[in-house]
Amino acid sequence: MIFISRSLIPEPVKIELMSTNSNGASFYVTTPIFYVNDAPHIGHAYTEAAADVLARWHRQRGEDSFLLTGTDEHGEKVLRTAAANKVSPKDWTDKLVHDAWLPLLETIDIDNQDFIRTTEERHEVNVQKFMQKLYDSGFIYQGSFKGAYCVGCEEYKNKADLVDGTGEFEGQDVCAIHSKPVEQLEENNYFFKLSEFEQPLLDFYEQNPNFIQPESAKNEVVSFVRRGLEDLSISRSKEKFDWGIDIPWDDSHITYVWFDALLNYITAIGYGQDEAEFEKRWPATVQIVGKDILRFHAVIWPAMLMAAEIKPPQQIFGHGWLLVGGEKMSKSKLTGIAPNQITDIFGSDAFRYYFMSAIAFGSDGSFSWEDLSARYQAELANGFGNLASRSLAMVRKYFDGVIPTPSDYTEIDKQVIKVALDAVTNSDRAMDEVAIHEAINSVWTLVDELNGYITSQEPWVLAKDEANRARLETVLYVCSEGLRVLSVLLAPVIPKATAKLWAALTEGKLGELAVQPLSEAGNWGQLLPGITVSELEVLFPRIEAETAS
Ligand code: MSP
Repeated sequence: MIFISRSLIPEPVKIELMSTNSNGASFYVTTPIFYVNDAPHIGHAYTEAAADVLARWHRQRGEDSFLLTGTDEHGEKVLRTAAANKVSPKDWTDKLVHDAWLPLLETIDIDNQDFIRTTEERHEVNVQKFMQKLYDSGFIYQGSFKGAYCVGCEEYKNKADLVDGTGEFEGQDVCAIHSKPVEQLEENNYFFKLSEFEQPLLDFYEQNPNFIQPESAKNEVVSFVRRGLEDLSISRSKEKFDWGIDIPWDDSHITYVWFDALLNYITAIGYGQDEAEFEKRWPATVQIVGKDILRFHAVIWPAMLMAAEIKPPQQIFGHGWLLVGGEKMSKSKLTGIAPNQITDIFGSDAFRYYFMSAIAFGSDGSFSWEDLSARYQAELANGFGNLASRSLAMVRKYFDGVIPTPSDYTEIDKQVIKVALDAVTNSDRAMDEVAIHEAINSVWTLVDELNGYITSQEPWVLAKDEANRARLETVLYVCSEGLRVLSVLLAPVIPKATAKLWAALTEGKLGELAVQPLSEAGNWGQLLPGITVSELEVLFPRIEAETAS
């Protein structure tokens, strides 16, 4: 980011805001809003899936969980793409939102509570209210900007953000993310006094140590702010381009696309027009962003909110990138893979499970079809799917489908019960830390335990001798009840498969899966003996190798 000369010496800002949500039962999670210059790839779907898993998890904890996602439709990048396609930007964005971005939510099974488009009136009007408020309170002034701009990032760049170009761009400074030359801008713009927030931000980070996560992201942001902040150009002259929200006091300028976009997180929940709704949801509990846009969210965004006397969100979580050939996957570099290329073969549950379990959330990860296929087969088909189908098949075969009554538990049964309880506690703790992969690993200890239990207890051998009937009842009850715990814990990650298992296992006697409280999932013995299980379709069908590669 680079900023400019400024015309006023500002008063220091006094900030006494704590980032805590007054409504303990509310969980508000957001994804970044996506540029609609192109269709989504799996990097975008990755962010969506993570936010959705968190939202579903918290909903199952009984919290009022609200997931917001949407599209970022203004700015030069979108405008240029529309022009290249010879349509108006509005027609372009309407088409892409309806043909590509809304369908993505279906493709990967996202249960969002709202979808905001920055071209909607509820957003535009309230962005203007926010801008006017900052202007009236002296946080915005007019100045002149001269510097570099990357249209791909929609970001002002300074020298340190650029790298030497290669190939056709040899000898030029290029954006480190897009590998394309930056553009030189010279304009009279409006500026936000970001520099005033240097100390308030550092104080805020210190008082709210979990505000930026993971730790590596926090360290990067803190050292960036310590190096000093400059004021930020927040408008573009309409002489250059005109696809954005008018600056309310000067209609020869439009709002800088990031200033416009960041405000979606509050305009969607009533800022400026429904105070009660806004108070109910804000501050957001966690805002999920890719590490490339961390500074916007962890520096500019809280500073904007402080200037408007609004509490910053409770947490900004910066996740890593999906890499291809060691570089960030992107459509512009032609390395993007469409989410439905994966879901058409493996299904949405496998997409969600794979990306959420195979990559430590917060770190980069490389996608490969081989790894996806191998994990699908070993973990979903053989590990979980097979456990479910053979357990239910044995209940059907040996007990006419009726869940048996357990007798006294032996040490080995008690061990399963303990693993189940620990899986609940540990996964819940990990989700609190947004360590989604760790939460899934904790749940998987129960999958592995139950598979080992079946192998060691050999119910098919017990079934051969009527004298072992009571033991067989106990073993198959333990398997079935273990599957109940697994259904509840895995519902936020693999909602389709767990819904099928739940229906087959519970005969509708325990209520809807989505409302099963996570906190009680480990209370052993909820599955009632006497329930009749039904046939379970194969949860994760075998996939022929040729299709999957
Ligand atoms: N429009 C801005 C965000 C504004 S939020 C107020 C933007 N849009 S984006 O479409 O370019 O990116 C949206 C998100 O997708 C970002 O979090 C970005 O990190 C993520 N990803 C894009 N490519 C990605 C990967 N290859 N891997 C993981 N996430 C990636 O930035």
